[in-house]
Amino acid sequence: MATGKVSIDGRVVDSGEARVSVFDRGFLYGDSVFEVFRTYSGVPFAQREHLERLQRSADRLMIPMPVSMETLSSEVAATLAAAGEGEWYVRIVVTRGTGPLTYDLSTATAPLRVIIAAPVSVPPAEHYERGIAVSLLHASRPTDDERASGAKASNYLANLLAVHEAKQKGAQEALVLGRRGQILEGASSNVFIVKDGKVRTPEPQPGILVGITRATVIAAAAAAGIEVEEGEVRPEDLYGADEAFLTSSIREVMPVVAADGRTIGSGAPGSLTKRLHEGYLRAVAQATGSGV
Ligand SMILES: Cc1ncc(COP(=O)(O)O)c(C=O)c1O
Repeated sequence: MATGKVSIDGRVVDSGEARVSVFDRGFLYGDSVFEVFRTYSGVPFAQREHLERLQRSADRLMIPMPVSMETLSSEVAATLAAAGEGEWYVRIVVTRGTGPLTYDLSTATAPLRVIIAAPVSVPPAEHYERGIAVSLLHASRPTDDERASGAKASNYLANLLAVHEAKQKGAQEALVLGRRGQILEGASSNVFIVKDGKVRTPEPQPGILVGITRATVIAAAAAAGIEVEEGEVRPEDLYGADEAFLTSSIREVMPVVAADGRTIGSGAPGSLTKRLHEGYLRAVAQATGSGV
């Protein structure tokens, strides 16, 4: 069975053997940044965009990137080569490294890099066929704060608790509300609505991680002559939408058919959502040379 490989500071080991120090600030404080993407026919999709965002996240949090983007790319390739045949979930984590047990950032001198290649686990087909439910709630995430906004920082505790609360309410994803009550994004996804043939997604702002999938979907929509407007999306816009969907690197384009117990549109995945998912998969196929 494929179990995956892990590269730690450039050294590839079996995932069961992968170890980092308990004094690593990533472990102690969530003081790290990360990226997630996946392979299609063994080829990573949008790796360059993810690495660029990793660099921006590290810059934002003043974590020095330990190696060049080229080195990191070759380490991803080496990890995937060692992992072998199959489709892989790739997670890159860069922590500020180890140091004394103080809050002083400057005491950590050697950032640690970890690349995990694990068998990719995609949502069940039923979710795409029938759509999923979401729950709207407030959550205070470290990246809502100006100091960390825009960074894909690893401290996801607020997101995990939000998903737990959403699941307890029978939903599959939590949609996080901003200070004015506007919808920002999912706990690990971006959100889109469709009304009268128009597609809308919240504009980039603090509290939103501008997804690579979101950008790919917007480009795929433009290629199909469908305009996507960026603007405020309020809970009532979602409840009254004809269609809604989420985007993320692993879920791709996931139809949303219910929110807080209210049915969205017909209660079934919408036709524009399906077209945009197909457009997304075409972009993936073109970029990776895969037959998805
Ligand atoms: C908070 C958050 N927003 C949005 C996304 C979607 O980003 P991407 O499309 O780059 O995977 C993610 C992905 O994990 C996320 O964690």
